[in-house]
Amino acid sequence: MSELVRLERRAALAIVTLDRPERMNALSWATVERLGEIGRELTADRTVRVCVLTGAGEKAFCAGADLKERQGMSRGQVREMLSAYRSELSWLSQSDFVSVAVINGVALGGGLELALTCDLRSMTEGATLGLPETGLGIIPGAGGTQRLARLIGEARALDLVLTQRRVDATEALSLGLVNRVIPAAESVLESSLKWLEPVLAGAPIAQRAALLAVRCAADRPIEQGLDLERELYERCLDSADRDEALRALAEKRKPQFTGK
Ligand code: COA
Repeated sequence: MSELVRLERRAALAIVTLDRPERMNALSWATVERLGEIGRELTADRTVRVCVLTGAGEKAFCAGADLKERQGMSRGQVREMLSAYRSELSWLSQSDFVSVAVINGVALGGGLELALTCDLRSMTEGATLGLPETGLGIIPGAGGTQRLARLIGEARALDLVLTQRRVDATEALSLGLVNRVIPAAESVLESSLKWLEPVLAGAPIAQRAALLAVRCAADRPIEQGLDLERELYERCLDSADRDEALRALAEKRKPQFTGK
């Protein structure tokens, strides 16, 4: 039996793989629960610096809600599922580590919403992204309307939500929907990990402070945001890694960060 979701650790990197390729890695109830369990495990582990979320196979990152399972669900169960999307998946945007969706194939509906919950996104050149929900008589229910509008703006978000059209990699990049497109000839996972190397090599306190500061920017009035930036800068100023970085610069060598 498939494990539903696999977790692999490579030192400070965690790789979480949706593993139901026969169902296009769709989000069943059990898959969402397993993602929540993994989230709790990773969030409690202070050594995790980057968490990559990807899908098994080459066709799909995630085709959204498991529509076969959904057919047998009552309205009450669907409501519970919507609550579970929020309680079990929001660690991706709230943990102290950077979360990155590595989109290896189509990301549709809840699949795109899952990617939008992450801090960063890369996609393979041939993949497409879309929110087909309004064509199914519903709306995106895993944070998609809110996160998409914040990320790319109201009019662009409405275009995608109302027309249900699928966006290719070139458009996704120009919309700011993804940070990077990986050429089809390259492994989307390995090339994305190369892109993320500087994050893993950076000073942990500074990386965490930067993540928290930027995540809060859109939701705070500017003066409060500037206060938060100042507060987070203080944490860096007091760190041994900041002193080490200045020493390394003077000695023309790479800094050896310790996370202190
Ligand atoms: N839930 C459950 N099973 C799904 C699924 C989903 N969201 N999406 C695809 N599958 C299953 C198909 O039923 C099929 O299984 P089967 O062979 O047992 O019938 C298998 O995955 C392959 O799908 P198929 O449609 O044959 O592959 P494709 O390459 O032609 O198309 C998709 C792939 C993802 C584009 C297409 O399946 C699709 O549009 N899926 C629905 C996506 C969607 O609307 N999601 C939003 C939900 S709100």
